[in-house]
Amino acid sequence: MNIAVFASGRGSNFQAILNAIDDGRLPARVALLVSNNSKAGALELARSRKIPAMHLNQKQYSSEDMYEERLLELLERHGVELIALAGYMKRIPVKVIDRYKNRILNIHPALLPAFGGAGMYGIHVHEAVLASGARTTGATVHIVDEEYDEGPIVMQKAVDVLSGDTPETLAARVLLVEHEIYPKAIAVFASKRVRIEGRNVWIQ
Ligand code: GAR
Repeated sequence: MNIAVFASGRGSNFQAILNAIDDGRLPARVALLVSNNSKAGALELARSRKIPAMHLNQKQYSSEDMYEERLLELLERHGVELIALAGYMKRIPVKVIDRYKNRILNIHPALLPAFGGAGMYGIHVHEAVLASGARTTGATVHIVDEEYDEGPIVMQKAVDVLSGDTPETLAARVLLVEHEIYPKAIAVFASKRVRIEGRNVWIQ
């Protein structure tokens, strides 16, 4: 299965996906890396692996329509069958969500539906978890639909909040779990072991 990875930052989840492909745990190939951020580590990583890498940002286009068309054309040209958002901090245009219905995944650093939605990204998520007094957090892989962080949940794993945790120490432990479950969840889609019924995602 040809996948596109969208990433805005350092790209450790992208690296985890590549590791899983290299080890034979994920029957897929990364056909394209897209980043909205020209300085993203993920772009460098793609280039070092000779993976087609595009810096693409809505600001480069005079209208949202043109940006959407360019993105769709790019995905089609690279034969992309599944999109994996890996620390991608921009909204996906609705036309792309429609075209790739049930074929866009996201990794979120908390146990959705808790600690998701506007403003909940990166370190802010872990700050909010600590401020709430929750004893458990974790990572969630979900399908991307029109509602931010609300699409059907594919896979989750919990992480205990420990006494003395800072947002950074918690983020580091959650990140290890992200690296574990994201390639697994993508593999489920790549090997077509998934049945989606409404909000339920059944893994066969
Ligand atoms: C990850 O923790 C990911 O879950 C989070 O950004 C980080 C990216 O790290 N994503 C979100 O917060 C999306 N709402 P990475 O660039 O090392 O993969």
